[in-house]
Amino acid sequence: MSQLSIEPLSAKNVGALVTGIDLVSLKNDEWQAILEAFHEYGLLVFPGQHLSDEDQGAFGRRFGELEMIVEGHSAVPLSNKTKDGDVVDKDDPIMQVLLGNEGWHTDSSYMPISAKASVLSAHVLPASGGGTEWADMRAAYEALPEGLQETIQDLAAFHSLKYSQARAGMTQSKGYGYDVEEPPLRPLVKFHPVTGKPALYIGRHAHGIPGLENAESEALLDRLLSFACSPERCHEHHWQVGDLIIWDNRRMLHRARPYDIQQARVMKHTRIAGDVRTESGM
Ligand code: OGA
Ligand code: MN
Repeated sequence: MSQLSIEPLSAKNVGALVTGIDLVSLKNDEWQAILEAFHEYGLLVFPGQHLSDEDQGAFGRRFGELEMIVEGHSAVPLSNKTKDGDVVDKDDPIMQVLLGNEGWHTDSSYMPISAKASVLSAHVLPASGGGTEWADMRAAYEALPEGLQETIQDLAAFHSLKYSQARAGMTQSKGYGYDVEEPPLRPLVKFHPVTGKPALYIGRHAHGIPGLENAESEALLDRLLSFACSPERCHEHHWQVGDLIIWDNRRMLHRARPYDIQQARVMKHTRIAGDVRTESGM
């Protein structure tokens, strides 16, 4: 029997690699260690798990109630494949959502209650590219240049998928969260409900800071995002089929990396709902 091991993914200390464990039959002490590591690292990589959809959903449910259950599935395909096995084209609404995911974001920030965590696993991969990258917004907040923490401490932004898709030129979009009528307003600094630590809460859905002109707001959010997602705070995962990753949406931003969209890429996503008390808008 191999032993549970939880090690930082790299010297940058963004995320941890978890091995020597079977997520389907977790012992209580193993689960406690995983939950503790989730709060410590914000990103946990579990190579070679090969979970069924049901087992992925059950693993997600350990962290809390699920949101975004599509047609009864708790592991929702993020896939550019059609039923006949072809790939959809660039203008297909599904592909537009997948391409939108290539911008830095945190899941469901555009929903009335933003997400706690997400689980993603790899099922079909293109020959190259198509990784996923994360950036640690707790580290980013700590590293903000002199004065910027004060500048943003009382600021908030609206979050909307309609906004972010339009800005990315994705005009055919629709789907989950696209038609939220009143975009939620969320502080730029989020205090983590478990650790109490502050993190930048930004990303592509954020816009329209009340009290600033649109151009000023956009410039500030773009500046924060490019500072925050600098390489020393990022980790890219190069997927193998069967890998499973969970991240904390209250602390990390993530994005899909480009690949040849003529090739199939099938991922499965399970989304854990935020807490009404701490993930509602203001
Ligand atoms: C997600 C997401 C990125 C990817 O699952 O929420 O943004 O690499 N995925 O598919
Ligand atoms: Mn996402």
